[in-house]
Amino acid sequence: MILSVLFHNHVLQIIFTAILWILATVEAQGNVSVGDSLSANDKNLAWQSPSGDFAFGFHYISGEKDKFLLAIWYAKIPERTVVWFANRDNPVIGRESKVELAASGHLVLTDPSGKELWRSPSFTGDSEVSHAAMLDTGNFVIVSRNLTNIWESFKYPTDTILPEQELGVGGYLLSTLAETGSGKGKYQLRFSNGSFVLNQIDVFTGKPYEDYFDFGNGSRFVFNKSGHIQIPNSNGSLVEVAPINAVPKPDLNYYRATLDFYGVFTLYSYPRNPSGGGSWSVLWFRPRNICRRFVDIMATSGRATFGTNPCGYNSICEPINGRPNCTCPPGFSFLDDNNQYAGCKQDYASYPGDCNPDGSTTGEDRFEFKEMSFADFPFSDYGVLQPATELECRQSCLLDCSCAVAILQDPTLSQDGTGTCWKKKLPLSNGLFDRDGVDRTALFKVLKSDASRTKPARSNRSDENRNQVILILGVLLGTSAVFNFFSLAAIALIFFCLFRRRFHDITSVRSRRNLETNVQFFTYKDLEHATNGFKEEIGRGAFGTVYKGELPSGFEDHVAVKKLDKFIQDGEREFKTEVKVIGQTHHKNLVRLIGYCDEAEHRLLVYEFMENGSLSSFLFGVLRPSWQQRLHIASGIAKGLTYLHEECSKQIIHCDIKPQNILLDESFTAKISDFGLAKLLMNNKTRTQTGIRGTKGYVAPEWFRNTPVSVKVDVYSFGVMLLEIICCRRCVEVEMEEAAILTEWAFQCYSEGMIEKLVEHDEEAANDVGKLEMLLKVAIWCVQEVPMLRPSMRTVTMMLEGAVQVPNPPCPFLLDTV
Ligand SMILES: *[C@@H]1O[C@H](CO)[C@@H](O)[C@H](O)[C@H]1NC(C)=O
Ligand SMILES: *[C@@H]1O[C@H](CO)[C@@H](O)[C@H](O)[C@H]1NC(C)=O
Ligand SMILES: *[C@@H]1O[C@H](CO)[C@@H](O)[C@H](O)[C@H]1NC(C)=O
Ligand SMILES: *[C@@H]1O[C@H](CO)[C@@H](O)[C@H](O)[C@H]1NC(C)=O
Ligand SMILES: *[C@@H]1O[C@H](CO)[C@@H](O)[C@H](O)[C@H]1NC(C)=O
Ligand SMILES: *[C@@H]1O[C@H](CO)[C@@H](O)[C@H](O)[C@H]1NC(C)=O
Ligand SMILES: *[C@@H]1O[C@H](CO)[C@@H](O)[C@H](O)[C@H]1NC(C)=O
Ligand SMILES: *[C@@H]1O[C@H](CO)[C@@H](O)[C@H](O)[C@H]1NC(C)=O
Repeated sequence: MILSVLFHNHVLQIIFTAILWILATVEAQGNVSVGDSLSANDKNLAWQSPSGDFAFGFHYISGEKDKFLLAIWYAKIPERTVVWFANRDNPVIGRESKVELAASGHLVLTDPSGKELWRSPSFTGDSEVSHAAMLDTGNFVIVSRNLTNIWESFKYPTDTILPEQELGVGGYLLSTLAETGSGKGKYQLRFSNGSFVLNQIDVFTGKPYEDYFDFGNGSRFVFNKSGHIQIPNSNGSLVEVAPINAVPKPDLNYYRATLDFYGVFTLYSYPRNPSGGGSWSVLWFRPRNICRRFVDIMATSGRATFGTNPCGYNSICEPINGRPNCTCPPGFSFLDDNNQYAGCKQDYASYPGDCNPDGSTTGEDRFEFKEMSFADFPFSDYGVLQPATELECRQSCLLDCSCAVAILQDPTLSQDGTGTCWKKKLPLSNGLFDRDGVDRTALFKVLKSDASRTKPARSNRSDENRNQVILILGVLLGTSAVFNFFSLAAIALIFFCLFRRRFHDITSVRSRRNLETNVQFFTYKDLEHATNGFKEEIGRGAFGTVYKGELPSGFEDHVAVKKLDKFIQDGEREFKTEVKVIGQTHHKNLVRLIGYCDEAEHRLLVYEFMENGSLSSFLFGVLRPSWQQRLHIASGIAKGLTYLHEECSKQIIHCDIKPQNILLDESFTAKISDFGLAKLLMNNKTRTQTGIRGTKGYVAPEWFRNTPVSVKVDVYSFGVMLLEIICCRRCVEVEMEEAAILTEWAFQCYSEGMIEKLVEHDEEAANDVGKLEMLLKVAIWCVQEVPMLRPSMRTVTMMLEGAVQVPNPPCPFLLDTV
C-alpha cells in the first residue's frame, strides 16, 4: 500500500515535470510577442525555430567569466557553432543581462544595470510590431502588423552566411579575429567595383586593402536553399561560385559558408542525422592556398603588398585542407603559446652592442646555422648574392648583423647551374614551405647552444626546465632501489596515459586526411562521384586505367584517378605503406599524389591532373616539339629520377620509365608518374617469381639475366628515352629497316661520326651540335649493358646541365649479344 502511494507520487511527479517541460519548450518555440524577454541567467532557455534547428539567445563565451553574446546557433549540433552575433565587439557581462522585444519594434539588449548595449536597427521607421520569430532558415525576424519584416538578422551577417541568405551591394562578411570569440578580424568578403572579393582591412580604420581573391562579377552573392553559392551575372543567369558537385546531399546536411579567421572562405556541411557523432566537414574553399596567396599576387602583379600571410611574422605557413598550419623556424618560438597564428619571436633578443657601426656582428662565433629544407620567405630579401657558393652565403649572413636567414640555391641543382643567396632580415614575412624548391635550403642563423649561457638575453625559462629535469634525475639516481622502482612505474604510467590520450585524440578526429602524409583518403563512392561513374578514360597502362575526375573540395579542379586492376593479394598493409612513401615525395618533376582509396577490393590513386598529357603523344605527335623544350624535359626527368633514387626517405626504383609515364603540365614541365607502383605489383623481390616489369624496348638487359636489379634499370630506360627525345622517334620502328632499333642505330651514327643523321629535318637540333653530341654521349652511357658502367642519375643530371664533362662512351653492347 505504502509502496503503491509512493509509486503514484513518483509517476505524478514525472508527469508534472514533463508537462512543465513541454510548456517551456512550446513557449520557446512559438512566436516572440512584444514584451517577451530572455535573460542570460536561464542557461538553457533560448528562442528556437519551429524545427528546433536554430536557437536565438545568450551564448556564453567559454573561458570568460559571465560574458555573453547575443547570438544565433545550431540548436541540434552538440559543438556550439554560432552563425550570427549581435554585439560581437561588446559582450555583455553579468547573468542578469537581458534581451527584450520592445513595443517600438526593436530588440533591446541591456546589461544587469539596465544600460542598453545594443538595439536592432529598423528598416521601416516606426511601424507597429506584431511579433518576432526564429525561423528554420536561421534568420531571426521582427514582423510588423502588415506582415513585412521590420528587421532580420540575415540582412546583418557577421562572418557566416546560410542557405537562403544573400549579400547585396552593401552587404559584407567580416571574419573573427581568432578561432574562438567573436571580435572583429581582418578579413572581409564584400562587393567592390562590380564583383565580390576578399580583402584584408586595416583593423584601425576598417579601410580595405587591395583584394586578394575575386569570386566574380555581379551584384548579388547568393547562397541558395540547396547549398549552392552563385552570383547572377548581368543577363540574369546564375554563375556557380563553387563547383556544382561541391554539394553532395542537399536535404541531409546543414550547410554554412564562413569567412574563417585566417582569410579563407569555406563551405562546410554537417549531417542532419549523424550516426555516431557528426562533425563539420570542408566541402570547398577559396583561396586554395592562403599561405601562398599574397606572394602569388605579388609575383604576377608586381605591385601589391599585403603584409604577411595569416601565420604572422617570422612564422612558416603550410595549408592543411585549406587551413594554415603555422610553425616557427629554428631559433624562433611562438609569440603566444596558445595561439599559433600570432607569429613567432626570435629566442634571443639582440642588443644594440651586438652590431658594429659598419653593420657587422660583434661575435660571429656565437652563431651557427640550422638548416631547413623547403622553407622560404619570398619577396622579403634585402640582399641577393649571385653567383654565390654555399660558403660565401654562410659567411655573408654570419658576419652581417642584420641577417636572420639566408636562402641558398644549390648551384649543382639549379636550372642554370649558378648558386644564389638571398639574405633576409627580421621580421620575416610570408614564410611558407615550397615543396617544389628542391634546390633551395634555408639557413637560419641561431645562437649556439653553449653561447646562450654567456649571454643573459636568452629567456631563462628553458634553463629552468632543464634544471627541473636534472633535479628529477638527481632524485632518481640518489634514492633507494625501491623508490626508484616506484618512480619508474609512475613515469611509465604517465607515459602510458599520455600515449593513450594521444591515441584517443587521433582516433576521435574524424578527419579524412592522413595525418602522416598529407594524402587524403577517399571512399570509393567519392571517386565514383568525382569521375562521373568512371566515364572519361584518359589513359591505360600496366597498372590500370586512368580516368579524369573533378573533386568537390578545393584542392584541384581536375584530377586523374587511377584504378589499379592488379595488386598483390592481402596487400592491404603493403598498399598503405607504399601510398605513404609515394605521398611523402615532393618534387617538381614528379606527379603529385593527392589521395587514395582502399576499400574492400578497390585500390585507387588520385593524382594531380596534367594539362598537356604524356610525353609520348607530345614527342611522337604531329608537331615536333622544339629542341629547347626537349632539353628542358630531359633534364627535368633526370632531376625527378635523381630525387627518387637518392633523395626521398625511401629509395624508389621506378622500373617502367618510358614516355607514356612522363606527363607534362601546362608549362611543359616533365613530371614522372606511376613511380612507387612497381613494388605493389610484385609478389616478391626475387625476379624469378616476378616476371619482367617494364615495357619492351625500354627494359634493361639485366632483367633477362641473373644479375640483381638496381636503380640502374631506370638509368637504362632513361637512356633509351633520351634517344627518343633527341630523335623524336620510337625506340623500335620496324619499318625503318637497318635503323629499326634506336639504341643500335644511335651508337652506329655516333661511332661513325655522323650524328646529324639522327636529327634529319630538325634544323634547331642540327645547329646545336655541341649539345646534341653531349646528349647522345649521355644516352649511350646510360644504355650500357653492364649496369655498373651506367652513371647514377645524379651524374646524368650534372652532365645534362653541363656541370661535368661527358667522357666518350664505350660500345654499349656486349659482344655476344650484337
Ligand atoms: C506567429 O504569428 C503570426 C501572426 O500573428 C501567425 O500567422 C503565425 O502562425 C504565428 N506562428 C506561430 C508558430 O505561432
Ligand atoms: C507595411 O508597413 C510599412 C510601414 O508601415 C510599409 O512601408 C509597407 O509598405 C507596408 N507593407 C504592406 C504589404 O502593406
Ligand atoms: C574597377 O574595375 C575596372 C575594370 O575592371 C578598373 O579599370 C578600375 O580601375 C577599377 N576601379 C577601382 C577603383 O578599382
Ligand atoms: C569582371 O568584368 C570585367 C570587365 O567588366 C572583366 O575584365 C573581368 O574579367 C570580370 N571578372 C570576372 C571574374 O569575371
Ligand atoms: C540551387 O542551385 C542549384 C544549382 O544551380 C540548383 O540545381 C538548385 O535547384 C537550386 N536550388 C534552389 C532551391 O533554387
Ligand atoms: C548570359 O551570359 C553568360 C556569360 O556571361 C552566357 O554564357 C549566357 O549564354 C548568357 N545567357 C543569355 C540568355 O544571354
Ligand atoms: C603542422 O606542422 C608541423 C611541422 O611541420 C607538424 O609537425 C604538425 O603535425 C602539423 N600539424 C598538423 C595538424 O598537421
Ligand atoms: C630570469 O628570471 C628572473 C626571475 O624569474 C628575472 O628576474 C630575470 O629578469 C630573468 N632574466 C632574463 C634575462 O629574462
